[in-house]
Amino acid sequence: MRAIQIDRFGTPDVLRLVEVPEPEPGSEDVLIRTIASSINPVDDKTREGAIGDGTPPLPTTLGWDLAGIVVEGGGSGLRAGDRVIAMSHQLGSARGTWADLVALPARSVAAAPGAVSLNEAATLPLPGLTASQTLDWLAVSAGERLLIAGAAGAVGGLALQIARARGVKVDALVSREAQVGFAQEHGADLVTTDKSALEDRGYDAVFDTFGAFVTGAVADGGRYASIATQAGPVPDLSARGVRTTVNQVREDGAGLNELTRLVDQGALRPRVHSAFGIHEIQAAHERFRRGGLAGKITLAF
Ligand SMILES: NC(=O)c1ccc[n+]([C@@H]2O[C@H](COP(=O)([O-])OP(=O)(O)OC[C@H]3O[C@@H](n4cnc5c(N)ncnc54)[C@H](OP(=O)(O)O)[C@@H]3O)[C@@H](O)[C@H]2O)c1
Repeated sequence: MRAIQIDRFGTPDVLRLVEVPEPEPGSEDVLIRTIASSINPVDDKTREGAIGDGTPPLPTTLGWDLAGIVVEGGGSGLRAGDRVIAMSHQLGSARGTWADLVALPARSVAAAPGAVSLNEAATLPLPGLTASQTLDWLAVSAGERLLIAGAAGAVGGLALQIARARGVKVDALVSREAQVGFAQEHGADLVTTDKSALEDRGYDAVFDTFGAFVTGAVADGGRYASIATQAGPVPDLSARGVRTTVNQVREDGAGLNELTRLVDQGALRPRVHSAFGIHEIQAAHERFRRGGLAGKITLAF
């Protein structure tokens, strides 16, 4: 079968489409034929060598997101032919999803939304689970005020929609004027590009997707979660009674089920910027690196 691997770190030309043996599913695994995946910042950082010791031994197959068709359901209750989505923690397990066939634990797999294509569904798993798990940590409830920094990005855009679906009042910090409309259309009240407008300690919780560290925005006794691992820890706010974390995404089939339900209800809309075939993997990464995206770059198998 085909897989996209790296055998050294570097610019996108280290990405290679190679032939590798098919995976042998364990008794708890589902075997999935990949239809689509998408590129996440972690894939870019892994390829460059920025993850360091956390990278699996090379050569390694990249990719975390997966939308595909079940080949063998094992004991999972899933049947051959079912449309599914999954997230593989590629750094932890070395099971990259950029391959024709992927074997993953049944607990990490969920039915795909029926309302969108598998190409669109492939944009959901990693950013969607990061969004929902971080919102769970923040424990924001209906009527509370949440600030999302980076609310038009992949994780931030899904977090905005999930939080709105949970009845949370959301304000948004975005990077440029072109993103203001997206945040407003998806239910943000105040949308700003100006960090200094957010110093009033008015938010019950802050979800920081890029290391903005807008700590003046969170209320005393509130919660502040970053997902920007490489920006380092959130400053210590314990003197103000603020709990802080740098959240790390986990494989989570139940979380994927929530994403599927929200998409099928029309509360969560996947965004595709552009689709590339896997033969174009180097061009896809070049485009990803240039940034300025409104939506995800997907890979078609
Ligand atoms: N800890 C975890 O488990 C986990 C999981 C997923 C992702 N992450 C990390 O979280 C980060 C976000 O991931 P993502 O997939 O959402 O990336 P993304 O799609 O690039 O989103 C990042 C957003 O932040 C915005 N932004 C960046 N710098 C900004 C600034 N100075 N002011 C205002 N907005 C700014 C970006 O705007 P522009 O488009 O204008 O740049 C973009 O909208 C990445 O670093 C990723 O590696 C961590």
